Amino acid sequence: EEIAEIRVSLLEWYDKNKRDLPWRRLKDDDDGKEIKAYGVWVSEVMLQQTRVATVIDYFNRWMLKWPTLYHLSLASLEGAKKIIEEGGNFPRTVSSLKKVPGIGEYTAGAIASIAFNEAVPVVDGNVVRVLARLKAISANPKDSVTVKKFWSLAGQLVDPHRPGEFNQALMELGATICTPTSPSCSECPISAQCHALTLSRQGGSVTDYPL
Ligand code: ADE
Repeated sequence: EEIAEIRVSLLEWYDKNKRDLPWRRLKDDDDGKEIKAYGVWVSEVMLQQTRVATVIDYFNRWMLKWPTLYHLSLASLEGAKKIIEEGGNFPRTVSSLKKVPGIGEYTAGAIASIAFNEAVPVVDGNVVRVLARLKAISANPKDSVTVKKFWSLAGQLVDPHRPGEFNQALMELGATICTPTSPSCSECPISAQCHALTLSRQGGSVTDYPL
């Protein structure tokens, strides 16, 4: 059915086309330093403010200067200190992550899904655009009721077996294929499921979505 096809096609595309980014190479070692969760946190905060190309260099320098959450806590970042003070175990769920100062819904979803495989959604501007086109939703993505709808939709779509990769695939699709003004629909792995593309054949344009 449609959700299953979207998951399979998107993940297959991501496996072949994902960019080789330094935070995607992180693996937790067995001594409990939780490097992956820490690296995902650092990279996602940076990615909310800056383009990927710029983030790569910032990220590499950051990880040399503060290689673990413990190092960062000594430099006195509030959220890092709180986690270290409470025993140093990285919170592993969205609800526990959101209690850390500086971690909101987006960052909590990214860390929980990418580092800890919790089947939760992550919605940024790229994801809103992909989902608005996929479902031909022409609502204004700046309206908070609309944004809630996109979180709910993303939550139904996320692959429970590979949530972190699914979420990164949606963001990557928006960044590289389903771009704001000139989407490459012929290269899109989920074009067969895209309602905006179907409607565009009766006039109009994929870029009519979102408003
Ligand atoms: N944009 C923000 N976070 C991202 C991620 N983890 N992968 C791809 N694009 C992103």
